[in-house]
Amino acid sequence: MTERENPRRSPPSRDVGAPRSSPSRIFVTGTDTGVGKTVVSAALMLGLEALYWKPVQAGTKEPTDTEQVRSWTGLPSHRFLPEVYRLREPTSPHAAAELEGVEIDPARILRSAPPAGGAPIVIEGAGGLMVPLNAQSLLIDVVVGMAVPTVLVARTTLGTLNHTLLSLSEMRRREIPILGVILNGDAHESNRRAIEHYGNTQVLGRIPRLDPIDRQGLLRAFGALDWEEIEGSP
Ligand SMILES: Nc1ncnc2c1ncn2[C@@H]1O[C@H](COP(=O)(O)OP(=O)(O)OP(=O)(O)O)[C@@H](O)[C@H]1O
Ligand SMILES: [Mg+2]
Repeated sequence: MTERENPRRSPPSRDVGAPRSSPSRIFVTGTDTGVGKTVVSAALMLGLEALYWKPVQAGTKEPTDTEQVRSWTGLPSHRFLPEVYRLREPTSPHAAAELEGVEIDPARILRSAPPAGGAPIVIEGAGGLMVPLNAQSLLIDVVVGMAVPTVLVARTTLGTLNHTLLSLSEMRRREIPILGVILNGDAHESNRRAIEHYGNTQVLGRIPRLDPIDRQGLLRAFGALDWEEIEGSP
């Protein structure tokens, strides 16, 4: 299987909200925790010369996602925006917050979002879309509030169809602009086709297993994505 296993297709018209120019803010969500959002965010950050922002970080004992992306990309600190919530425990944000007597306020996250314009920003979510932030709100409420084009990161292997199709379905129900799906992991052609067919969306490409995860590998992975389909031509 070639690196660019996704042959050119007719221009995508399936997802409402897919812009014809490179968006200035991109939200990176995933079908699950650990599915590769940070790796994809790092590749997008390098490829789009963007800033990186992880508004809700649950887990600060191990390297945080921001620290991870900094180390993988080698980019300077001014390319990274500060988290709004930094919670110690690597668990669901609502539970991590509760342990510290903190109440996550989605409105505060939205207020902290830098205004559009200027350098593009890659915004990484926490876990999947339906992760609770507090007793009333889920992460997806913040995604809706931000109203920015969103990439869904999914693994390639067994189980991904259910998670990916459910995530896409809920994103559509809430009218989140979907840029497409980025697969992370070893090639699985039939799952890629099924996601495009049943998910009625575009797979923007696949990030292969990188060893090591570094600037060069991430840039190569970005180059193999079908990002020009998003950028389009004027
Ligand atoms: N393409 C890849 N190549 C090599 N290792 C990978 C790749 N994708 C993920 N990993 C490994 O899996 C780990 C988890 O991936 P990642 O941190 O990107 O997941 P995540 O979706 O951001 O998780 P979280 O919900 O905690 O933010 C990475 O730290 C890395 O070790
Ligand atoms: Mg992450």
